[in-house]
Amino acid sequence: MASDPPPDDAAAAAAANGHDHDNGHGNGNGPSPAKRPRAVISAAEIRAEFAHHDAAVARVNNGSFGCCPASVLAAQAHWQRLFLAQPDAFYFHGLQQGLVRSRAAVAGAVGAGDVSEVSLVDNATTAAAIVLQHAAWSFAEGHFARGDAVLMLHYAYGAVKKSIHAYVARAGATVVEVPLPFPVASADAIIAEFRTALAVAKEGGRRVRLAVIDHITSMPSVVIPVKELVAICREEGVDKVFIDAAHSIGQVPVDVRDIGADFYTSNLHKWFFCPPAVAFLHTRKDDPIASQLHHPVVSHEYGNGLPMESGWIGTRDYSAQLVVSEAIDFVNRFEGGIEGIRTRNHEKVIEMGRMLAEAWGTFLGSPPELCGSMVMVGMPGCLGVESDDDAMRVRTMLRKDFQVEVPIYYNSRRVEGQEMAKDKSGDPVTGYVRISHQVYNVREDYERLRDAINKLVSEGFTSSKLRPSEKVLS
Ligand SMILES: Cc1ncc(COP(=O)(O)O)c(C=O)c1O
Repeated sequence: MASDPPPDDAAAAAAANGHDHDNGHGNGNGPSPAKRPRAVISAAEIRAEFAHHDAAVARVNNGSFGCCPASVLAAQAHWQRLFLAQPDAFYFHGLQQGLVRSRAAVAGAVGAGDVSEVSLVDNATTAAAIVLQHAAWSFAEGHFARGDAVLMLHYAYGAVKKSIHAYVARAGATVVEVPLPFPVASADAIIAEFRTALAVAKEGGRRVRLAVIDHITSMPSVVIPVKELVAICREEGVDKVFIDAAHSIGQVPVDVRDIGADFYTSNLHKWFFCPPAVAFLHTRKDDPIASQLHHPVVSHEYGNGLPMESGWIGTRDYSAQLVVSEAIDFVNRFEGGIEGIRTRNHEKVIEMGRMLAEAWGTFLGSPPELCGSMVMVGMPGCLGVESDDDAMRVRTMLRKDFQVEVPIYYNSRRVEGQEMAKDKSGDPVTGYVRISHQVYNVREDYERLRDAINKLVSEGFTSSKLRPSEKVLS
């Protein structure tokens, strides 16, 4: 498809500020909703914004799929209708301008140099594919030598680990894992493990072409000291650093320039109130590699730069990418905006985590300073979680029998030279819940989880009872 020229940055910035662009809510007269001062959102208004959530479920798992308030969903529906009303006009005169407006809003929120540094993609998995595909080509085209290393955390997200193997290991990379301790006591423990693994990666003079570092690991959830690890990578001559920050924006402060990585991605649909699916990928405009990155879905904009390539990957629904400004409007209805939300979520999740640990005779999997709005809480060891499958079955049971939604982690790893951490009854703690706190959560959500686990313990439940072989026998 021949495309209209992209709007220039000045027009985009004006659009992002709501000056000249009908964003679907205003009539073009007077200040946009973003500029209108609003009173702080009330508890009733928060409930109304999330009234579409299944009221029967205690959802203490914002982390997996995020949440989207009704006001942002309404804005999304408006864009969908605009597209369907006159698809050609929408594409030729609205879509690119709308995407630039969203990119400018992201650039402002994460400290990017300007809008040209930000691409919008579906999700962190797609952003990882973009970076890893480039690394794979570098092997295939002989820029990297067979056996050069790619470093990743042991706790890298499963899909990203698979991507690393599918793209770069297959192309010839040696993959080296950083074996992080869990439970983890301090950022220094993570930094020490990282240095050791980097030394292994560099053994025999091997080049380290890429380090993939999570900003907040998924399972177990731990905030990683990314700025320090990026600095170590620079000192040690690692070529490129990709921060997989799928969970970061809305949970921890994000300043991409300050962190200093080559590539940084975060989902906007997890903790930033956008609908699924939208994420950003940041690259510095002064880095020549930016022009060598390509979207894995090749379409008409191929070769016009990643932001443009990502803005047209075939006929599809782009509406999730068009409502970033409305998500920011929503955030700004809270005292302190996103910073206020983050701070309160952090305080609450630690309070609820401690309440659960106290009730179960266990402990938190990491100190508060290594948590954002999620925390790992040990479950009583007598539940006998002995595998990932056990953990998944217990999670399913909590959903079906107790209407509690919470991910469960099986900790197969022991800290080197240390015994497995034990609960107050002396049983080794092998299972952890990952609890989240988001603006819609209430104390009763966590009490439901607490009581469900206490009931299981009092009934002598063990995870083995859910195993298929045991079920057949009983
Ligand atoms: C660290 C990390 N990376 C990548 C992803 C993938 O995110 P998405 O499914 O939105 O692509 C997740 C999802 O939870 C994650 O936690």
